[in-house]
Amino acid sequence: MSAGKPGRGLSGPGVRPGGGVPAGIDLNPLDVTDEEEDAWLRCLIWPGEPDRDERLTAAVAVARQDPPRIIRGDLVDGLVDLASQAPSHATLVVFHSAVLVYVSQSRRRDFAAAVRDLDAVWLSNEVPGVLPDLINQPTPPPDTDPFVLVRDGTAVAFTDGHGKWIQWITP
Ligand SMILES: C[S@@+](CC[C@H](N)C(=O)[O-])C[C@H]1O[C@@H](n2cnc3c(N)ncnc32)[C@H](O)[C@@H]1O
Repeated sequence: MSAGKPGRGLSGPGVRPGGGVPAGIDLNPLDVTDEEEDAWLRCLIWPGEPDRDERLTAAVAVARQDPPRIIRGDLVDGLVDLASQAPSHATLVVFHSAVLVYVSQSRRRDFAAAVRDLDAVWLSNEVPGVLPDLINQPTPPPDTDPFVLVRDGTAVAFTDGHGKWIQWITP
């Protein structure tokens, strides 16, 4: 992902967490160490998008080197149990991307309530409007159809839905 104006430059906070213990939940997790599942994931990249192919290749290399633990299940049902397994000395970060749009309004509210009950940093990268009780509903950059990156209920950046760019929102 590049940062700054859409499609340009590198700047911005650039936080890179280290020493974490990644774990996730998905209704249908894919195992990128499996050639067939990796091939299926690559089929989802639209024609003429070599940059997405490059990012996927890089992400798969990281995941193969150090496979994260992924639980098969629903994000509301599985969250609290998974979060309880995080090391007590660690900062708990709940991150989700491109998923709430597939979840009903009431389940989104259940999920938001469950995250708020955790002592966690909450990062949400989703289509605008799907996150309940977003504190500010900023106007996206012109000629874009972005996602919005939200930290603990406050929008902090617009992002390309496929990870191409990020534009920080200045308070
Ligand atoms: C568009 S993909 C996004 C994948 C990934 N989060 C990303 O940003 O690239 C949507 C994912 O949401 C998962 N999903 C949909 N409903 C879910 C639910 N209720 N609980 C957990 N995962 C769900 C699907 O299985 C799918 O992997």
